[in-house]
Amino acid sequence: MKQKIVFATGNEGKMREVRMILKDVDAELLSMKEAGIKVDIVEDGTTFEENAIIKAKAVAKQIDAIVLADDSGLEVDYLNKEPGIYSSRYMGEDTSYEIKNREIIHRLEGVEDAKRTARFVSAIAAVVPGREEVFTVRGIVEGQIGYEIKGENGFGYDPIFYLPEYGCTSAEIPPEKKNEISHRGKALREMKALLEKENILR
Ligand code: IMP
Repeated sequence: MKQKIVFATGNEGKMREVRMILKDVDAELLSMKEAGIKVDIVEDGTTFEENAIIKAKAVAKQIDAIVLADDSGLEVDYLNKEPGIYSSRYMGEDTSYEIKNREIIHRLEGVEDAKRTARFVSAIAAVVPGREEVFTVRGIVEGQIGYEIKGENGFGYDPIFYLPEYGCTSAEIPPEKKNEISHRGKALREMKALLEKENILR
């Protein structure tokens, strides 16, 4: 029988990426919704890793499957690494990304290129049935905060995350390309390799 992996997120944008990145894994990949899991998770950790572990453990209590969770966000150096672990809660959970993105650009008004550095971080945690330890990995992609909101692909802060090597934002590159270079792509590929090495993924 195929192994089951539940990815602990309610974020459709993330889930879409995860499906593409893990398309070669010989397992049934389910979102929380598809697995019929509803949990209220309080993300009160102080690091991406801690929050990823909190999410993965909370979901693992509900189902006998490999559970993966990603906690991710945008660190803007000029803003002392804000919004960081508060990326989805920045200015309020229900505030649109149009408004959040505009606000970040506004807070960097007049700031020169060299000081606009930022990065996306993704920490992934895995809880595995019958195993005590929780596995974690971290992926990072470096970029800069752009001067305007650009691009229709991706989600969240992608339209203001400028990738100097590509000369565009991560909302302007095709999804396959984003997954190749993104924080989440890197972290998920590393987690896949780790679970294979541990003989957890067949
Ligand atoms: P989480 O779901 O609590 O991990 O929150 C992650 C938040 O970070 C998302 O809601 C986005 O705002 C932001 N984020 C993480 N990864 C990306 C990405 O690949 N593109 C754009 N925004 C991202």
